Amino acid sequence: MKSINDINFKGRKVLLRVDFNVPVDDNKHITDDTRMVESLPTIKKLMNDGAAIIIMAHFGRPKKGGFEPEFTLEPVAKHLEELIGRPVKFTQELLGSGVPEKMAADLKDGDVMLLENIRFYPEETKGGEELARQLAALGNCYINDAFGAAHREHSSTAVIAKFFPNDKYFGFLMENEVRNLEKLMQNPPRPFTAIIGGSKVSSKIGILENLIDKVDNMIIIGGMRYTFTKALGGKIGNSICEDDKLDLARDLMRRMDEKGVKYYLPVDSVIGDKFGNDANTQIVPSGEVPDGWESMDCGPESCKAIRDIVMNSKTILWNGPAGVFELSTFAKGTHEIANYVAEACKQGAFAAVGGGDSVAAVKQMGIADKMSYVSTGGGAMLEYLEGKVLPGIKAIQD
Ligand code: 3PG
Repeated sequence: MKSINDINFKGRKVLLRVDFNVPVDDNKHITDDTRMVESLPTIKKLMNDGAAIIIMAHFGRPKKGGFEPEFTLEPVAKHLEELIGRPVKFTQELLGSGVPEKMAADLKDGDVMLLENIRFYPEETKGGEELARQLAALGNCYINDAFGAAHREHSSTAVIAKFFPNDKYFGFLMENEVRNLEKLMQNPPRPFTAIIGGSKVSSKIGILENLIDKVDNMIIIGGMRYTFTKALGGKIGNSICEDDKLDLARDLMRRMDEKGVKYYLPVDSVIGDKFGNDANTQIVPSGEVPDGWESMDCGPESCKAIRDIVMNSKTILWNGPAGVFELSTFAKGTHEIANYVAEACKQGAFAAVGGGDSVAAVKQMGIADKMSYVSTGGGAMLEYLEGKVLPGIKAIQD
């Protein structure tokens, strides 16, 4: 498959799909522009080549159909101008009005234009072909750099590609995500350790099931581990648990045993008598949490054991925190694990970090650049790890 690196886009009108679905505060200030920054290499390459760029992006989940002020991409357009140091042509008018159509037609080489939130068109999320056709008519080739939305079969993320059978490409961000994920899932250097956390087993069933056939070690952390601890007969006090998933947890452990996957559940827990930084805390064995207490982090013995496994691994996948890391009282386990993974990378291991909370943790600690790869995709990475085909990737590869 051709990389955009092999092509000079001078004089072309490029339709570029990005994921600029960035978090904003109440005043519409962008609080984390990582996704935008990660797409800059693609945008700059196209600018330097002298292409005219028409950027398509979504923001939030508008439902009404048509323009909705709270979902406008205007703040994103302004921030993009700062990032690229060049004006970004933007209009809140939608396709059909003739305004964005004219703006796109008038673009000169090197110009950058951002279309208003693509989800203002109800057909977008339905994968409507007519919208894809309308978008395709604005340019003459298509680049998808929106890994975060690659699990969506939408008009601008997948369907549009069919209008450019010989002129569709991954952007650099997408290329990098696909390369790293393939490295992880196809022939990873061994031992391969997955560290899977988060609050609910139910949200991680697909990934646990898919990884059973792939990993050597499975470390189960976070709130979801108490369902496993309870399934093994442990007392978990008021810790989070999905009682309807106890059989599933037993089944997963049985299958890991059968496959020779070594699974590890933290042996000790930091428990609190309430959900807050001012909680009274104790460290107890994981299966002996008293009633009225809730386990909210893994304890020091568990950290030591996890460190041993991580340091002896050649490939590591980390998805989901060890505890309630947003409360500093219960952040230690997550921070320790982040440091072990960084240490393993320094020693030559390949480590991928994905999922909103674990990514937030490594960023908060300022060590994201110590990881081999930090994914920009939340749901997209999860679905890839579940073994699903992502429509945004397939549409380019087909
Ligand atoms: C995300 O933020 O994970 C992506 O932009 C996808 O957004 P969506 O879940 O609204 O499709």
